[in-house]
Amino acid sequence: MTKDKSTPSDLGLATRLVRGGTSRSQFKETSEAIFMNSGFVYDSAEEAAGRFKGENDGFIYSRYANPTVNMFEERMCALEGAEASRGTSSGMAAVNGALMSFLKAGDHVVAPKALFGSCLYIIEQILPRFGIGITLVNGTDLDQWKKAIKPETAAIFLETPSNPTLEIVDLEAVADLAHKVGAKVVVDNVFATPIFQKPLTLGADIVIYSATKHIDGQGRALGGVILSDEEFVEETLAPYLKHTGPALSPFNAWNLLKGMETLDLRVHKATDNAEKVADFLAGSATVKKVLYPGREDHPQYALAKKQMKRGSTLVSFELEGGQEKAFSFLNGLSVIDISNNLGDTKSLITHPTTTTHSSVSDDLKAELGITDGLVRLSVGLEDAGDLIGDLERALG
Ligand SMILES: Cc1ncc(COP(=O)(O)O)c(C=O)c1O
Repeated sequence: MTKDKSTPSDLGLATRLVRGGTSRSQFKETSEAIFMNSGFVYDSAEEAAGRFKGENDGFIYSRYANPTVNMFEERMCALEGAEASRGTSSGMAAVNGALMSFLKAGDHVVAPKALFGSCLYIIEQILPRFGIGITLVNGTDLDQWKKAIKPETAAIFLETPSNPTLEIVDLEAVADLAHKVGAKVVVDNVFATPIFQKPLTLGADIVIYSATKHIDGQGRALGGVILSDEEFVEETLAPYLKHTGPALSPFNAWNLLKGMETLDLRVHKATDNAEKVADFLAGSATVKKVLYPGREDHPQYALAKKQMKRGSTLVSFELEGGQEKAFSFLNGLSVIDISNNLGDTKSLITHPTTTTHSSVSDDLKAELGITDGLVRLSVGLEDAGDLIGDLERALG
């Protein structure tokens, strides 16, 4: 494999998204090759032995590393400004790997209550089984973070904006508190996307993505990625992933590489649409409340503006009339699809309380504002007028 002659880290975002990480085989292909192989062969037994001892460079097994997956990891590093990264089979494998690779019994973790259901499951249900203490806070309240973080706190895990209520956590302030006790700050940056928010520059130590979402963004592939400094990735994370096996498929890595080439264009265009949709919804009589970080009526608009370039491709809103109205509204849509996925070219709508957040307790849902009337819309690339027309008809 030969590296592409461009040096993407010196180049602009769009160039890094198209060219970052590209290596070519002896065939000099333009588009990145898919190395759809599990193993690699050696010229001799001595070479195999040397490879395992780390005495000669080269691939061993696709659970450890694979050329197509490597290209994806390097392109993600070029995008995020991270020293190192590892791809994983899904976003949840990334969340689990990022945390379990370094946490141990006796450690303590602080996280906001407003988390994606599966992330909350890992924090609330899995970590305590291994003797890891947890404290859940209102992520928007710095006093709660201050009180919760203690000397044995080893990790902070958070999403900002959160799924589905689009709450914003003050990344710099929480990272400062965490670093005073030596805790690592792990940020799930799925909703913000790497285009609008750079957690590593705001104090995060580890960033994770469900690459299934905007990075693929075309409904084709599950994948995840963990980005951090070289020491953490190579010494702590890589051995954990290598031995536990949540490896990213080379075919999916290729889809993700292709997705990255249009990521900036897609995220901006979907956000243009989301802004128009949010404004339309805010003016609709049957909509009780619109949650959109790009609108001045979002409770944390100033903070969103400070740490994110733009709002989001997601808009959440609450309908008068609870679940019955929400279901009839969803069923009345003809352009927008009902789906629990997000970050896609196609607009997708979700009723979180009965789907993505159905595993969250009723009390916590009530506390977080995940009501029966709340719906989450992931805005895609269709014509904004068609989306607004569809919403208008279904709301009527
Ligand atoms: C914020 C957030 N984190 C993680 C995930 C998990 O990603 P995946 O479905 O790729 O495992 C999701 C999926 O919806 C999500 O919304």
